[in-house]
Amino acid sequence: MLEKLKKLQKQANLGLKSCNSRSELNNWKIKYLGRKSELSLILKDIKNLDPNMKKEVGMLGNKLRLDLEGIYDAHLEGLELGKSDQSSSLDYFLPGREEKIGKLHPVTQTLREIKKAFSSLGFQIAEGPEIEWDKYNFDMLNIPEDHPARDMWDTMWIDEKMNDNGEKMLLRTHTSPVQARIMESQEPPIRVIVPGKCYRYEATDSTHEWHFYQVEGLAVDKNLTFSDLKGTLYEFSKKMFGSDTKIRFRCDYFPFVEPGVDMSIFWEGKWLEILGAGMVHPKVFEKAGYTDANISGFAFGMGPERIAMIKHDIDDIRLFYSNDLRFLNQF
Ligand code: DAH
Repeated sequence: MLEKLKKLQKQANLGLKSCNSRSELNNWKIKYLGRKSELSLILKDIKNLDPNMKKEVGMLGNKLRLDLEGIYDAHLEGLELGKSDQSSSLDYFLPGREEKIGKLHPVTQTLREIKKAFSSLGFQIAEGPEIEWDKYNFDMLNIPEDHPARDMWDTMWIDEKMNDNGEKMLLRTHTSPVQARIMESQEPPIRVIVPGKCYRYEATDSTHEWHFYQVEGLAVDKNLTFSDLKGTLYEFSKKMFGSDTKIRFRCDYFPFVEPGVDMSIFWEGKWLEILGAGMVHPKVFEKAGYTDANISGFAFGMGPERIAMIKHDIDDIRLFYSNDLRFLNQF
């Protein structure tokens, strides 16, 4: 009987070494410590042994059971901590995988900077629809049908959409239609910027995308003048490009403003155009239903991609929308 116990001890020790998983360990436990295990049967049978054997087998048997329980616990702990056999498929000592935290797209970052700059100048932020009626994109902005200025905006038309009056829908070619929508629904004073996406039927190249962002601006109040326009856009430029930024205005033509200008900043030795602007055209006020003669206003529109390109020295607008992480990770 004592021999049997010794043999059992050897077997159990050997068997335990090859347990590399919880389920293998569990089977081992059933085999050597379970109710029907050899050890349990020996211990149960002690009462039938003769008295001098009883004591010895009892002591050894119980000691073996305690030993086996002990090595079982230790092996289980080892498995859990990864201290077990190398052949285990889990390596608990490998360093963890780093969580990759995303970042904001460079155009989103620029949009946020623009919004912050104008918010600090007292402008509110509004939005308008990307699918727009012909009327808001053109007519309300003093660009009637057959007007040659329509060619300034190569348009993607939506064939199916046409209301009972024969008006057509398009993908807005600029954010200026939101000017008309705001004036239609709100009385002055107005100070608002409108960030949003625009679309043009255009071949792409390094400075043109068929979809891009614009930020529109509109201020309407009693007796606003061109110096208000200049002052506002100068302050904006300083916030955006640095406090010593120089700006320059030149005459330009946009049907919804009079006079119309474009504005450039002096950047790394060159004048670079960043926006169009002007005093709101009387026809635009008229169409919006503003009749008070003391009301005047200025408007402007800029492209955040262009501003981001200047600030970060990017030479191709298409990079913004090519989803190349080697480009995007730089910002
Ligand atoms: N909507 C014009 C464009 O897409 C940009 C623009 C120019 C907006 C002058 C204005 C403005 O509000 O006054 O080219």
